[in-house]
Amino acid sequence: VVLLILLALFEGTAAHSWPERTIRIAPNGTMVGLPGYERQHWARGTPGISDANNTWLLPPNGRPDGKIIHPDDKIVREGQRTLKYSDEFPMLKVAPGDFVAISYLENGHVSGPDKEGLPIKPINRGTVYLYGTTENDLTNYNLVDIHLKWTADGTGGDGKGKLLATRNYDDGQCYEAIPATGDTEGIITHRKSVLNNDVNLMCQSDLQIPDDLAPNTTFTVIWVWDWPTMSDRGAAVSPATYHANSSDYGDIYVKEPEIYTGVVDFEVVDSCDASLGEIKGPHCVANTSAAAANKKGVARVFAAQEVATLAGVKAQMANNFLVKVPQAGINVSTATANPSNIPLGALIGTTSQVAFPLPTSIQNAVVAAPGTYLPTASAGPAAPAASATALPNLGGGGGGG
Ligand SMILES: *[C@@H]1O[C@H](CO)[C@@H](O)[C@H](O)[C@H]1NC(C)=O
Ligand SMILES: *[C@@H]1O[C@H](CO)[C@@H](O)[C@H](O)[C@H]1NC(C)=O
Ligand SMILES: *[C@@H]1O[C@H](CO)[C@@H](O)[C@H](O)[C@H]1NC(C)=O
Ligand SMILES: *[C@@H]1O[C@H](CO)[C@@H](O)[C@H](O)[C@H]1NC(C)=O
Ligand SMILES: *[C@@H]1O[C@H](CO)[C@@H](O)[C@H](O)[C@H]1NC(C)=O
Ligand SMILES: *[C@@H]1O[C@H](CO)[C@@H](O)[C@H](O)[C@H]1NC(C)=O
Repeated sequence: VVLLILLALFEGTAAHSWPERTIRIAPNGTMVGLPGYERQHWARGTPGISDANNTWLLPPNGRPDGKIIHPDDKIVREGQRTLKYSDEFPMLKVAPGDFVAISYLENGHVSGPDKEGLPIKPINRGTVYLYGTTENDLTNYNLVDIHLKWTADGTGGDGKGKLLATRNYDDGQCYEAIPATGDTEGIITHRKSVLNNDVNLMCQSDLQIPDDLAPNTTFTVIWVWDWPTMSDRGAAVSPATYHANSSDYGDIYVKEPEIYTGVVDFEVVDSCDASLGEIKGPHCVANTSAAAANKKGVARVFAAQEVATLAGVKAQMANNFLVKVPQAGINVSTATANPSNIPLGALIGTTSQVAFPLPTSIQNAVVAAPGTYLPTASAGPAAPAASATALPNLGGGGGGG
């Protein structure tokens, strides 16, 4: 039943990207339960609702002083500044310490941005910053109050939220149907084949709900996708800045900022709440073997998954900060990254236009990168042992950076 619901969701037609679905991830990496949604969710195809209603672009187009972030640019679009959920599109119920996936459609931003003549983008397809807070009303928050201000230790900015995780926008597996213009880069064809999956595969920003949240808390997560146009090709990730044309930030700098944001909320329930179904929270006193496997202090086990569309991304469950963004400051020059965490990392430093379709040697890094989805049976290249792989215990709270 869940599979059919998910497949239906994956088959919508896409244009822009925004976080539009949430789901719990069991300790073995499988998505469990029914999905939740983002604030003010509209079903795709709702009359009168276009992509522009769903996205919040900063800086907006047509600003007289150019592509410049203003200090009073709100962090999210108007309809998402306060809680807006319905029975039809509820927020997801989670337990403290749960892993969840926030999903979005790539809309060509993973599979097609390297073409000649397009604005030059970083190899990781931009960085997703995930900020968490129990302040649910974002009416008075500007981008600059939160983005690159809130820190992993919670001391940054006004101290009311934390940087929970950083993700490469390209999660190493996602793609959509081949567009009318064809699969120029070859990424869609390659991934479909390696993952043995024929339907759209949404991208994921996976996230651990903090351990210390009390039941009945509404936990707000702000998804910030930093997707700037760069001065040159070959940058792994963009610098942690939205200031354009500043060579203070390195040889390859942001030529034009382009940031999209969205909001998802989670209803925190008791770790043993019946609404969680078979897989309870990691802090539930275990009476069942499923709960025991999920107990704090027990290693998480990421099993090989049968169906790509139903699995979390292992690397994201193992590492909250896949992109090493310094703790604070717009003046910190670089967001560094382990190239092996960047699915198309073989393109890093490649300053000239590459030939398409991308060679298999470059594409293979997608499946070889630690923690990307590993199918049980595939015609793809040799991957690390596909049987259950122990991950470090992730029961502890916060930290990192
Ligand atoms: C969607 O966007 C259009 C164009 O900006 C606007 O006129 C309309 O009011 C928006 N709809 C909703 C429900 O916000
Ligand atoms: C949580 O909220 C429910 C419904 O509003 C209420 O019945 C319950 O007592 C609350 N629990 C706690 C621990 O506050
Ligand atoms: C950056 O430089 C480009 C030309 O190279 C110019 O078009 C653009 O307006 C500049 N942006 C800012 C914010 O100064
Ligand atoms: C385990 O048993 C205790 C005591 O009977 C109960 O309070 C708790 O809710 C149970 N947990 C689960 C997951 O059923
Ligand atoms: C993972 O756990 C879920 C929930 O218990 C179960 O339904 C699923 O079959 C498991 N998947 C694998 C690959 O072991
Ligand atoms: C960033 O650097 C500029 C120029 O050195 C300085 O004026 C500004 O105060 C710095 N901002 C922060 C937040 O440190």
